[in-house]
Amino acid sequence: MGSGKTSVGKRLARKLSLPFVDGDQEIEKAAGLSLVDVLKCFGEKEYRAGEERVMKRLLQGAPCVLASGGGSFVAEQTRKLAKQYALTIWLKADINTLYQRTAGRTRRPFLLGDNDTVKEKLREYITEEYPFYSEADIVVETRNERVENTVRRVLSAINAYYKQNRRKNSEKTMIKELLFASHNAGKITEIKEMLAPFGINVKSAQDMDLPDVEETGKTFAENSLLKSQTIAKATGIPCIADDSGLCVDALNGAPGVYSARYAPDRDFEKGMDKLLAEMAQSANKSRAAHFSCVVSLAYPNGRYELFEGRVDGHIAEQKMHGNEGFGYDPLFVPEGYDCSFAQMSHEAKNSMSHRGRAMQKFVAYLQKLQG
Ligand code: IMP
Repeated sequence: MGSGKTSVGKRLARKLSLPFVDGDQEIEKAAGLSLVDVLKCFGEKEYRAGEERVMKRLLQGAPCVLASGGGSFVAEQTRKLAKQYALTIWLKADINTLYQRTAGRTRRPFLLGDNDTVKEKLREYITEEYPFYSEADIVVETRNERVENTVRRVLSAINAYYKQNRRKNSEKTMIKELLFASHNAGKITEIKEMLAPFGINVKSAQDMDLPDVEETGKTFAENSLLKSQTIAKATGIPCIADDSGLCVDALNGAPGVYSARYAPDRDFEKGMDKLLAEMAQSANKSRAAHFSCVVSLAYPNGRYELFEGRVDGHIAEQKMHGNEGFGYDPLFVPEGYDCSFAQMSHEAKNSMSHRGRAMQKFVAYLQKLQG
């Protein structure tokens, strides 16, 4: 009511070379009465039932620009059919705009009464119905501007919607097969298990006999992308990679991206000794530290997504070895715990670890893509 659906709809239909259909008029035609009389004679329940029948016929009918009253989109069946057969656009207006546009119009059966009553009804209507309208595919704010302007904004929103959906669909198709840029057997098994429920066939750099990509970046994101983008480009298959490390406050964030190289001879027993010795030398006596991880997904066309994970904790006074873990795990105690990562089960560590958290975000992205 007052959103501009008829004036915008008519011009939009002309631009799109489609017929314009006014939902309210179709109800009046079907009933042989005005909306006010339909409501008076049959009551709201019958009015809504008639509206549903008309909307069903229109939504399943020939292509058109259909201006529908908001109430019809609140009805569950109509909303379902609209999502199935139509592209839905909500012309969203604030209460003042609606009030100005509807003042004194007696044709609207739900907006009869004095000024205060009308304002109160509009307020109620916004509270009750806007949550349903927000399910529309496209939302365009309407304000006091020329109708042509609103139509222009609606058209560009439609264009943007189709562009984004096309991209989403092509990525969804592309991502049936995924490469994982890693030679680390533990990580490979973990990722394959995580992605199996999505029907995604994961192959690792090892399965494909791909060379290691050198990590020359200065940040986790740069290194992660270096690996995933190089392999996605070379193979034409979307690729994920991760880069991670331990950042210690007392060492100004070191070893950070250099965590693997920091360990002499890549021996992490030596690496942990070196870390404890450097911390003992540091003027900063904080034991705070965190692990960071950036998982990147690169498409062969150059587009990419980043998913970050972090876990905070502290560095133990001495190594706390357990049955699990690798790298710096025996020195890292996550916040809220008094055992090290090396003393935790795989499941417990994965549920809170930097890599686990980044992967949870990646999985949420896949779920949305496959939606
Ligand atoms: P990358 O992400 O495979 O390059 O790993 C960098 C280095 O960070 C590893 O070699 C480990 O030393 C360290 N690191 C990364 N994640 C963990 C972890 O979960 N526990 C212990 N060390 C880790």
